Amino acid sequence: MNTSSEPQNARVAPEVHMADIVLPNQTNNHGTMFGGDVMAFMDRAAAIAALRFCRQPVVTASTERLDFRTPIQNGEIIEAVSKVIYVGRTSLIVRIHIYAEHPLIGDRRLCTTGYFSMVAFDQKNGQPCPVPRLVLEDDAARAEWALGEEVRQSINARRMS
Ligand SMILES: CC(C)(COP(=O)(O)OP(=O)(O)OC[C@H]1O[C@@H](n2cnc3c(N)ncnc32)[C@H](O)[C@@H]1OP(=O)(O)O)[C@@H](O)C(=O)NCCC(=O)NCCS
Repeated sequence: MNTSSEPQNARVAPEVHMADIVLPNQTNNHGTMFGGDVMAFMDRAAAIAALRFCRQPVVTASTERLDFRTPIQNGEIIEAVSKVIYVGRTSLIVRIHIYAEHPLIGDRRLCTTGYFSMVAFDQKNGQPCPVPRLVLEDDAARAEWALGEEVRQSINARRMS
């Protein structure tokens, strides 16, 4: 929520929780989830976080490296927890944690974390358009902003090389 001292176009980023269950058609012959399906799930969670933050159309511009730390089994519950952690002029960086959860026992583990860059665009001319400023509501948000700045620098270096 905006505080009274914040300009109108500055806002806190909501955290998005998106859950699903892993079905056989999403798994390989070891019975674990396809990496590509995990990435598609992350992309949707990133898009929702970006849309709820800026309420403008967005596209995925790029993703950072992903490491899958632990496999996700058929029948497990998968949950994405996504949030805009950094904004530029027209771009946003969304952090997505992916958790897997045993459906009966409830054990939950972090499987991967991704950083997706989204760009907002103007529906009329299709060009990138400004996004709201991000209000950093606590120390955790400030720490994630610092991470987002590092991601942004590495993207800039990549784009210039
Ligand atoms: C992403 C896209 C809109 C950028 O367009 P562009 O003409 O390069 O735009 P600009 O150079 O004006 O950059 C606009 C913003 O995007 C950012 N950006 C551009 N390319 C980027 C990339 N590869 N990764 C992260 N951010 C990127 C710029 O840093 C800039 O951010 P800022 O305004 O916050 O400083 C364009 O490349 C595109 O439409 N790509 C296809 C997206 C798509 O279809 N995604 C679905 C996957 S198939």
